[in-house]
Amino acid sequence: MKHVKKSQVKSAIVELDGDEMTRVLWAMVKEQLLFPFLDMDLDYYDLHVKHRDETGDQVTVDAARAVERHGVGVKCATITPNAARVEEYKLKKEWKSPNGTIRGILDGTVFRTPILVKNISPSVRNWTRPITIGRHAYGDLYKNSEIRVDGPGRAEIVFTPDRGAPVRKLIENFQGPGIVQGIHNTDASILSFARACFTYGLDQKMDVWFATKDTVSKTYDTRFKEIFEQEYEQNWKEKFRSLGLNYFYTLIDDAVARIMRSEGGMLWACKNYDGDVMSDMLASAFGSLALMTSVLVSPRRCFMYEAAHGTVQRHYYKYLEGEKTSTNPMALIFAWSSALKKRGELDGSPDVIRFGEALEDASRKTIEAGIMTGDLVKLVAPDEHRRQVDSEAFLAAIKTRLESKLMTS
Ligand SMILES: NC(=O)c1ccc[n+]([C@@H]2O[C@H](COP(=O)([O-])OP(=O)(O)OC[C@H]3O[C@@H](n4cnc5c(N)ncnc54)[C@H](O)[C@@H]3O)[C@@H](O)[C@H]2O)c1
Repeated sequence: MKHVKKSQVKSAIVELDGDEMTRVLWAMVKEQLLFPFLDMDLDYYDLHVKHRDETGDQVTVDAARAVERHGVGVKCATITPNAARVEEYKLKKEWKSPNGTIRGILDGTVFRTPILVKNISPSVRNWTRPITIGRHAYGDLYKNSEIRVDGPGRAEIVFTPDRGAPVRKLIENFQGPGIVQGIHNTDASILSFARACFTYGLDQKMDVWFATKDTVSKTYDTRFKEIFEQEYEQNWKEKFRSLGLNYFYTLIDDAVARIMRSEGGMLWACKNYDGDVMSDMLASAFGSLALMTSVLVSPRRCFMYEAAHGTVQRHYYKYLEGEKTSTNPMALIFAWSSALKKRGELDGSPDVIRFGEALEDASRKTIEAGIMTGDLVKLVAPDEHRRQVDSEAFLAAIKTRLESKLMTS
């Protein structure tokens, strides 16, 4: 057995365990790729759906508070219960999405970045660097009020202030049937989103792009544009400039056209609906959901890393029947490596940062050597070498590379 000196992680990392196949992989990743190489203090919270049920979901709240306290957390995928899950796990009720609860407490924004490997090319050939999406996760279409109009009549928008006279505007004088929709956002939420984007852009040393349709939506979208601009000018411009970085605003249609022609490398801040659509487009264009990482960034500078995918339920049922599955652990590994790099940066521990980088490199190189899980095999060009392995063999191949990297570094 080769001997590699363990790195010491100085401060605690908050660990949020999860459900189903990702819970199984999570334990393997720790056993194979982390514990042999690191001494770390993990502040552990078990977000298994049964434990959330038993604690009345208090464990999720406690975990979020712990991430706030320690600054860095790493989360496994978790079940968001629906009626079928209530039945399956005999739950007391349909508990809320843990991610929603944690996001609410940390007031955070989620950023998603693809993991690039040489033998899986993005559908857009010129994308040589990852494009990160930051999606505003409050309001607009997702908190709307809608009416189906049956026949002729007048639709109005009315705001009744706590003090003062109501303000009214005509939406449409309907001559026949139709539809009406009311949406909103708040200055506080938009500002918090802008701050999270600038925090993350600076942290990752990326230009920040933002786009709306302010030429058409002269009050609503213009307010987004104004808040971003004011925040950038007042609090970020000098810091960005000193690193040679930029904030770039344009119209959403222009942004889409430019992104398609770009080489990537930017953080693309998106309004709620734009982010919903564009993140799925980017995920599929870059390859696979299992190669997409996700981080929740709070404007109070705490970071929670996770995979963008869910619990991979179908594989879990096969696993329970004793089958070996070929589930892809890449995004879970990168959640850990990113959390370790951030912990190392905050603690001033270059060896922990180096370990995080070595783990990412060993994982990428394993895929680039043609050793991969089933979901990736079909993404590799037919003339490239590839060998499908199960999750355990994939992790073992990464471990071998990691060990030799750490021995020689
Ligand atoms: N962040 C989270 O915690 C999160 C996110 C999404 C879904 N979920 C939960 O996950 C459960 C399953 O949801 P779902 O099926 O919609 O999403 P999913 O991401 O688990 O699976 C979607 C599809 O992608 C494939 N896939 C995803 N990750 C993979 C991987 N690592 N390796 C190989 N294939 C992979 C699956 O086989 C499936 O076909 C649900 O209970 C849902 O609530 C959790």
